[in-house]
Amino acid sequence: EANAPLTPQDKYKEIMSRFPRRDDWVLQPLYQYQGFWYFQDYLIGLLAAQENFKPQPSDIVICTYPKTGTTWLKALAYTIVTRSRFSDSENPLLIKAPHDCVPFFEIDAARNTSNRDPQVPLVATHIPYTSLPTSISESGCKLVYLCRDPKDVLISMWHFLRGKLPEGIDKDTYINLNNSFEIFCEGIASNGPYWDHVSGYWKASVESPEKVLFLVYEDLKKDTVSIVRKLAEFMGYPFTPEEETRGVVQEIVELCSFDSLKNLKANTSGVYSPDSPYTIRNTEFFRKGTTGDWKNYFNEEMAARLDQIIEEKLNGSGFSF
Ligand code: A3P
Repeated sequence: EANAPLTPQDKYKEIMSRFPRRDDWVLQPLYQYQGFWYFQDYLIGLLAAQENFKPQPSDIVICTYPKTGTTWLKALAYTIVTRSRFSDSENPLLIKAPHDCVPFFEIDAARNTSNRDPQVPLVATHIPYTSLPTSISESGCKLVYLCRDPKDVLISMWHFLRGKLPEGIDKDTYINLNNSFEIFCEGIASNGPYWDHVSGYWKASVESPEKVLFLVYEDLKKDTVSIVRKLAEFMGYPFTPEEETRGVVQEIVELCSFDSLKNLKANTSGVYSPDSPYTIRNTEFFRKGTTGDWKNYFNEEMAARLDQIIEEKLNGSGFSF
């Protein structure tokens, strides 16, 4: 109808129709905005969040690139900040998936809903540092960033996207590893280039270490207890000597471990963001949870090539994988 008012969704779709677009990524076209690539439904959320998102001043923002361990970091941060509110047996993580405990603010913005618990000072995002809503820096929120070996990120993403194909479709025709690899190396991926996502948060953490904590999945795997202590301290919820004696840190690490989370009823069933373009079965967030799974998929040449690209892109930043 000629006079029907534009919905916010229409407005953002109209804006992004002028952005550069790639049709050769898997499943959906990608649009380029402020130097990064996004699929349409996600970009609606990003634009809506840039316009409308208002954090609480005490908020801590969990920032990640997709498939770098977001679910794990959400579970850890959530358990740390809520530990004085709930006994072990009452922890909401036992009945609620990590993504429902700590919602992505851009997905809430896209849907014009708020799924956050105002008593929990945590929100999450996959938005790159340089595109975060200005309200975040204005409010002085702390940010925690987690990144991961790009080779494992790509393999994890590849499995995840293949899981989205309808039953009966030939997965290798639609999403084969070689194409996914080539395009990832070019920087074309949802929320990519990956290296720019990493370097944006890395630089911010160097400039403002009291505001931005930069973590790496492989370190978190190797010494979860030490990193969890560091995370708790950074967020302003340090463990007391009494909690240390009681083994509270180890309990949190255990509750949030891959095997524990994967097998909780909240995660073996149910979906994230039902009735929306972002729907994902909770089981899809738990695949292997290991480091170095890329060795089962890449040949040496592929590994060396991606390593070299990443090294060149991050060269001079002071960070390397
Ligand atoms: P894999 O596909 O390599 O197994 P995200 O949460 O950002 O979507 O990332 C998903 C990746 O984190 C998946 O990696 C998943 O298995 C892994 N993961 C989920 N929960 C985890 C946990 N508690 N500990 C370690 N890895 C976990």
